[in-house]
Amino acid sequence: SAPTATSARTVPVASTTDPQPAPPPRPWALLAELTHGCPLHCPYCSNPLELTRRAAELTTTQWADALHQAADLGVVSAHLSGGEPLLRSDLEAIVAAADRAGIHTQLVTSGVGLSRARLDRLADAGLRSVQLSVQHADPGANDRIAGRRSFADKERAAAVVREAGLPLGLNVVLHRHNLDALDDLIDLAPAWGADRIELANTQFYGWALRNRAELLPSREQLTRARRTVTRRRAELIGRIELVWVVPDYFDGNAKPCMGGWGAISLTITPDGTTLPCPAAASIPGLDPPNVRDHRLAWIWDHSNAFTRYRGTDWMRDPCRSCALRERDFGGCRCQAYALTGDATATDPACRLSPDHTLVDDLVDAPAPPEGARGGLGHPRRPSRSAETAP
Ligand code: SF4
Ligand code: FES
Repeated sequence: SAPTATSARTVPVASTTDPQPAPPPRPWALLAELTHGCPLHCPYCSNPLELTRRAAELTTTQWADALHQAADLGVVSAHLSGGEPLLRSDLEAIVAAADRAGIHTQLVTSGVGLSRARLDRLADAGLRSVQLSVQHADPGANDRIAGRRSFADKERAAAVVREAGLPLGLNVVLHRHNLDALDDLIDLAPAWGADRIELANTQFYGWALRNRAELLPSREQLTRARRTVTRRRAELIGRIELVWVVPDYFDGNAKPCMGGWGAISLTITPDGTTLPCPAAASIPGLDPPNVRDHRLAWIWDHSNAFTRYRGTDWMRDPCRSCALRERDFGGCRCQAYALTGDATATDPACRLSPDHTLVDDLVDAPAPPEGARGGLGHPRRPSRSAETAP
């Protein structure tokens, strides 16, 4: 294959026995958070607590340039996400820029505002697939969790995607208030014509961490849900792909977050801040770089934000001497920081972590009293002030 910029760089000739630092891995996936504007107000929103103002978002040209640089770096797949990416009136131009660069795009949307005409324009620009969020199988419960009426919009959006002939995936964030409706949620996939349904247990960062007491399921709920997934997977095999994203705190295992820090993917936020994972800006001292100021190749290869927890050199025990360190990468850095105040700590989700009791105590704590409406109490929600709202 053609030499990369790294391998072609002039280096002193070394004997074959000299240790050569391994070149950084190449990314293949990009999460492009086009805007923090969104019509919904989910209490587990993955956007940061401080939302980016619409006026501070990257321009069309800046996104197009970033996408071309990402493709040069090896990226072949981009999730166009938010907030709600449909709020970007230049979404078609961004999709087209990705397509010209050779990047496949998937629209990650609430479905609110997705008309047939808009989807046709996006498909003409090169959009390859759509991932639609659903909060609950019951319309009223869906709307309470989302913080606004939206179930009917989602159902219409699914029909529009199928009419346009694009692959459709559903995405459900699971928590205490919808896990018991798992069978009905899975039924939505065949009913709405989806090829895939991703059942993603809530990951507790940012807004979800703030609302953890409201969202954390019980062990019994998860045990039932696992059985349901096994049964439905067998039923739907060959027809609908059913993806189960394991819960964070319950089984004593650390997850290989992001497939490793700065290993396979990167996130660009609405204002161009570039991160190894969507939550990484919460770690102090990371000094996150911005595509307005630096080339993406430099950010990936050399920035402090991307090199700090790459590989295994940064690890302390028990991870440093653990046989699983190349498999789970010590778990999630953002979770380690959020729970212990130290991003180099072993993820407390791991049963070998000296801080594991932090998550065990939470899981075994009694459930909070049920809220008045549909079980949801009074979660804190992203407010989408005038600055971020459409
Ligand atoms: Fe993974 Fe570290 Fe736990 Fe070992 S000690 S299983 S590397 S998180
Ligand atoms: Fe940041 Fe896991 S979410 S490393």
